[in-house]
Amino acid sequence: MDTKNQENQIKRRDFLQKSAVLATSAMFLPFLGNKAYSASNSIKTNSSIPTVKLNNGLLMPILGFGTYSLRDDVCQRSVAEAISVGYRLFDTATRYGNEAFVGAGIKQSGIKREELFITSKIWVDDSGYEKAKMAFETSLKKLGTDYLDLYLIHRPRGDFKGSWRMMEELYKEGRIKAIGISNFTPAQYDDLMSVAKIKPAVNQIETHAFFHEMDSYNDLKKNGVQMEAWAPFAEGRNGLFTNQTLADIGKRHNKSNAQVSLRWHYQRGVVAIPRTVQRAHMIENLNIFDFKLSNSEMKAISALDLNISQFPEWT
Ligand SMILES: NC(=O)c1ccc[n+]([C@@H]2O[C@H](COP(=O)([O-])OP(=O)(O)OC[C@H]3O[C@@H](n4cnc5c(N)ncnc54)[C@H](OP(=O)(O)O)[C@@H]3O)[C@@H](O)[C@H]2O)c1
Repeated sequence: MDTKNQENQIKRRDFLQKSAVLATSAMFLPFLGNKAYSASNSIKTNSSIPTVKLNNGLLMPILGFGTYSLRDDVCQRSVAEAISVGYRLFDTATRYGNEAFVGAGIKQSGIKREELFITSKIWVDDSGYEKAKMAFETSLKKLGTDYLDLYLIHRPRGDFKGSWRMMEELYKEGRIKAIGISNFTPAQYDDLMSVAKIKPAVNQIETHAFFHEMDSYNDLKKNGVQMEAWAPFAEGRNGLFTNQTLADIGKRHNKSNAQVSLRWHYQRGVVAIPRTVQRAHMIENLNIFDFKLSNSEMKAISALDLNISQFPEWT
């Protein structure tokens, strides 16, 4: 090989080595990025999330992060990134099959456990006193924690009264900071209360601009139970992200339909747990505490209530 050729070979090897280093760095950029965001954003955004006081005195962030349908590394990355931009409340469930990935995301973030508010739920198949206990232990193990902030009965089916008895015990032992229900109607709440020794702290139900759940809203208020909205955007169904009423209101405040929706939940005193895998949406959804909907804007959103679920396949 002549000198010219040798030089070319060395340059090519150099180039390949540098490219490999760059490619490897790029692979780890999302993690390095999280650390960087954490340093610059988390204190500011975290401190701006107000809390509600549950009926047992526990403070719960009024805005959190949903994880339904997030799996594997997408789930892990989204949870870690959500923590880095300021989310502290995470909602998962045995049914979502992602508790281990939520746990991995929390671990990846490096945040202290006590700074988080973690919710999980008992699925129908695990209902009943004995099974509920096993389901709880499994959830803790997968999440990599030794307590839950909030544990919910996912749906009022099966032996949910047996589950509640077990949850009351775990609560008294201090292994769950608050216990609650999900998808319970006022009548189902009354049925549970006929045997319950401890009142549920939260009822997590479908609530969004097209389904205000006024019966539950008034009933929960009367009973001192915190309402929490699942699908706070109706997963975008019925054109929520392009709805003209929300867009007209948003234009006045320089906010998106998503932000107007979340601000509406906030002004109703309802906890919301929007889900997103996009960092820009994570930040957008947090930025709802610097504007206020007027009474007439709240009324205009009231008029959007269709009083019907957008998820008939789940009822
Ligand atoms: N207890 C129950 O029975 C029950 C049932 C359902 C859900 N849940 C809980 O409630 C959480 C929230 O509900 P959900 O996940 O069904 O739906 P959701 O939060 O109403 O909507 C999620 C959808 O909104 C999009 N999105 C998020 N932010 C956006 C923004 N700023 N602009 C435009 N699009 C945006 C997301 O897409 P991108 O990812 O592209 O942003 C995603 O497709 C769940 O994750 C779960 O934790 C509980």
